[in-house]
Order: sequence, then C-alpha cells, then structure tokens
Amino acid sequence: MATEIPPQVRDLLKKADLLPPTAIRIAATLRIADHIADGVRDPAGIAERAGAQRVPMERLLRYLATIDVLCETDDGGYDVTGTGALLRSGAGLREALDIDGLMGRGESATPFLLHTLRTGKSAYAGVHGREYWEDVNAEPVFREQLKALGHSGLAWEGERIVKEYPWSGVGHVVDVGGNKGQLLIALLSEFSHLRGTLVELPNLVELATEDFARAGLQDRCTAVVGDFFAELPAGADVYVLSGVLADWDDEDAVRILRRCAEACGTRGRILLADIDLVLDMPDPADQAAAELRTMATVPGIGRDVDGVKELAGRAGLDITWEGEASAIRSLLELTPRTGTAQAAPDGGA
Ligand SMILES: C[S@@+](CC[C@H](N)C(=O)[O-])C[C@H]1O[C@@H](n2cnc3c(N)ncnc32)[C@H](O)[C@@H]1O
Repeated sequence: MATEIPPQVRDLLKKADLLPPTAIRIAATLRIADHIADGVRDPAGIAERAGAQRVPMERLLRYLATIDVLCETDDGGYDVTGTGALLRSGAGLREALDIDGLMGRGESATPFLLHTLRTGKSAYAGVHGREYWEDVNAEPVFREQLKALGHSGLAWEGERIVKEYPWSGVGHVVDVGGNKGQLLIALLSEFSHLRGTLVELPNLVELATEDFARAGLQDRCTAVVGDFFAELPAGADVYVLSGVLADWDDEDAVRILRRCAEACGTRGRILLADIDLVLDMPDPADQAAAELRTMATVPGIGRDVDGVKELAGRAGLDITWEGEASAIRSLLELTPRTGTAQAAPDGGA
C-alpha cells in the first residue's frame, strides 16, 4: 500500500517546487503562446519556431498542460488555456516574464539568493557575472528596454531636489549616475542659469542624449560615459548623487563618495539625495518579499538618513546643508573636509 504523504510535507514540497515558475518563464521567453496563436500546435513545429530542441520541448509542453497553461488537443497538439493566453505578446505578462528581457533577467537571480547570504554580494552578480547596472548597460540590446522600463519624470520624491536645494548660487551641476537625465531636465528647465553634465554608463548616455535634445537642452546639457568608481569630471559646483548609494554596500558607497569628493576639489560640493529602499509597507509579507527581491538584484542593504550620514563621515565629508528627511529620501549637502578631498579614493571604507 502506498504511504500517504502528510499534508504538511506535501505543502512544503509544493512551496519549494521551482518547476512551475521555471516552465512558465521558459514558455514566455520562447513565445510558445504566440506560436500556438499562429496555428503552430504540434510539438515539433513549436520547437522549430522557438529555435528549441524537440525532445525537451515535448516534455515542457506536456508539463505546461499539467499546470493549466496549455491543454492537449485530440490530434496530439496543444492549445493555450485562459491562463496560457496571458503569455501572448502584448497581453501584458509575456514581456515581464521573458528571461532574456531586463525584468525576467533580474528575477531569474532570485533562486540564487544563497550567493547573497554567503557572500553579501547580489545574486544578480553571482548569476550574470556583473552587477545589475553594469550588465544592463553592457549590451546595446537592453537600451530600448531601459527606455521603456525607466520612468520619464522624477520618482521617489525626486522633485524635492529641484524645489528644496538653493540652486541660485550654482552654475554647473554634474549628475552622477543620473540615469536618463530626468533630474537634469527638470533642473535645467526650472533654472535657466544652470549647466548640466550627466555621468552614466553607455546605454543611459545614449538615451539621455536623445532626451536632452528632445527637451531643447542640448546647448546647456551633455551626457558623458563615465564610471563613478573611477575619475569623474572635475571642477563643477555641485555633484548630485540621487538614489545611487542605495544600490551599494557601505564599502562601495564610500568609494563613490570619495570619487565625488575628489572631483569637487576645494570649492565643489556634493548633493547627496539618497533614498531608503527598505520602506515600511502595510503588509509585512510584501515588505519581507520586497527586501529579499531588492537584495537579489543589487548589493544595497537599505539605509535611513543616519546610515547615510555615517557614510559621509567615513568618506571625510562634512554636512553643510540639510533638507528635511522623509521616510523615502534624505537631502544632504556635503563638503570635503580640508585635506580629505585627495584621499586615496580606492582605499575602501
Ligand atoms: C538607482 S539608479 C538612480 C538613477 C537616478 N540618479 C535617479 O535618481 O533616479 C542608479 C544609476 O546609477 C548608474 N550607474 C550604475 N553604476 C554606475 C557606474 N559605475 N558609473 C556611473 N553610473 C552608474 C545606473 O546606470 C543607474 O542609472
């Protein structure tokens, strides 16, 4: 007589089963629902259209039919179920689940969180060999996806940087890691006396250059490829770091601050507008999941304003102006303490 599996064991095994998410994401990546919608319903035909091997495809299709994504037809082919139809291109979910796309690529690191637990590094870097931002900027194919994924305006209370900091005495502002230039566009649109430089990785420089031209700001604003772990353009009045340190562990965050301090020389300042990625969410389950997901993608640990101030101190920076800190964002103007601006930038924390 077969032994009955205790319900708790069955429940735990079901929760630990990696196969359903894996199979669904492969179906999304290989556009199986699209091929079926085009009338290709037999396993060999679907495999050929998907550029996949026939035998593994036969097994994948058979499995997808057991989890209500596909159903078998009388002629040995497959059709999509109501759930499976959600995986058609344009229906809303396929692109997000596509393992070759930016979102799916990030999510595919989640099963490797063990790497984060053991090393403190992101699971993303463990799987893809490079940190998230470096990876998505390394392949031109991600450019259009970054364009679609990124927000076009200011997020995470970013408008407070424009409204609250005293910009009247500033001539040249460098936005370090300024993404597609959203903040510089907002700043230069508001203050006609400002000039701006964006320092970013290659895909974002291309996108920002297009956006600066579209906003008619190309004469006052340029985007340059640079690395905030290396030398930054020197001599600007203000170096903005908005939502950048949040992605990094303490040691790397201090390295970035030191690079900015170095570029400040004796008269520049840093405007540190960091965000706290670990927000209080109403549902503790959402909170716990969000914390782990963030950690899978980037090595940041979440810092409140006191944590950010501690980093500034370690980088040899004095606080010379402070905006009100909210749960989301802190605003600090930092000035290199005399004699520390040229301190070895790669010297760690
Ligand atoms: C979380 S986003 C913040 C974007 C923007 N400052 C904002 O407030 O929305 C971090 C940005 O840092 C950029 N970045 C990551 N590594 C970088 C590096 N080594 N050098 C320059 N920029 C980098 C990324 O491309 C990304 O746009």
